Amino acid sequence: MKILVTGGVGYIGSHTVVELQQKGYEVIIVDNLSNSNIGVLDAIAEITDIKPAFEEFDLVDKNLTEDFFKRHSDIKGIIHFAAYKAVGESVAEPLMYYRNNLYSLVNILQGMKDNNIENLVFSSSCTVYGQPEELPVTENAPVQKAESPYGNTKQISEEVILDTVKSTDIKGIALRYFNPIGAHESAIIGELPLGIPNNLMPFITQTAIGIREQLSVFGDDYNTPDGTAIRDYIHVVDLAKAHVIAVERMVNKKMKKSFEYFNLGTGNGYSVLEVIKSFERVTEQKLNYKIVGRRAGDVEQVWADTNFANDELGWKAEQSLDKMTLSAWKWEQKLASNK
Ligand code: NAD
Ligand code: WQD
Repeated sequence: MKILVTGGVGYIGSHTVVELQQKGYEVIIVDNLSNSNIGVLDAIAEITDIKPAFEEFDLVDKNLTEDFFKRHSDIKGIIHFAAYKAVGESVAEPLMYYRNNLYSLVNILQGMKDNNIENLVFSSSCTVYGQPEELPVTENAPVQKAESPYGNTKQISEEVILDTVKSTDIKGIALRYFNPIGAHESAIIGELPLGIPNNLMPFITQTAIGIREQLSVFGDDYNTPDGTAIRDYIHVVDLAKAHVIAVERMVNKKMKKSFEYFNLGTGNGYSVLEVIKSFERVTEQKLNYKIVGRRAGDVEQVWADTNFANDELGWKAEQSLDKMTLSAWKWEQKLASNK
């Protein structure tokens, strides 16, 4: 069964392609390599013995996307990862984000409509909840006004999909990721942040390996047990597995509504200092960090209620925080050994 994975050369996409191929799916990737490296295709082949089919083009290009779908109308499902994702950059360059993240989605939905492709899994984010009033946060919590143009593209995208499923045979599953971290256990694929990382985990590993001098911990005056902000970190391989299950649910016609939303997290919240302690414990080294002021736009604490995903998808995140931080470290060491 042929599955299109947009952005399949990227961080979460590459881990998902591995899981799909290991389950026997035929994968075709579309990626313009704007935030990824072509070498990832060989890395996927090294893990799975299969090099996925690949086409390099920009999904914002309507004609190229239309032509692609005409040639691949036998696709049975699409997992749409391709998007820009840097929150700060989206504040500086909102039009770049709206154009890339929204036009690409519209072009894909048009291709689905024109070629009778019914099943779309969409990468959404816990960012849609902002700072929820109740924790853990369920899928029914209200979507709050987005803090950034990036977050807004996720909210608008969910609405675009909802409106489209109402008027076509297309069905959608939005997966709202919490904080994906870690790397494949083989350390053959992982996260490849370009430039200075925005996210906590790559900043930790780059500091430990000596690429960055010091990690700044953004704020220790939050209303949390140790004062640092709390997130629901989830292993990228656990996340990838949920995508395979979502595709199976769609193609096996198990959906209960034509557009469904699921939280993908572990259900556990960890503070920044707890992540650092886990990292120090599993790697047996001290991390150079200092406490600085809060980062603008950060929420204080958020973690997922995963009951709906656990019950409906029959999926549960399995990997502990220590496994996540260790796999991230092994990946950073592998990158360093390749230099
Ligand atoms: P990533 O940047 O590693 O992967 C995205 C891939 O899409 C890249 O390979 C990039 O080259 C490609 N791409 C971007 N725009 C494209 C376009 N117009 N045409 C073709 N290819 C294009 O990011 P990721 O961390 O793997 O994230 C995947 C998805 O998950 C994104 O939609 C992101 O917004 C969402 N998400 C990520 C996180 C996270 O923390 N990583 C959290 C929540 C949601
Ligand atoms: C985690 C915690 C920081 C870096 C972002 C996006 C969100 C989603 C995931 C895509 C926070 C603290 C971080 C550092 C720090 N992406 N931190 N020092 O902000 O929860 O979510 O990525 O959808 O939309 O907003 O993730 O990894 O940046 O931060 O102290 O150098 O680590 O303040 O508390 P965040 P993150």
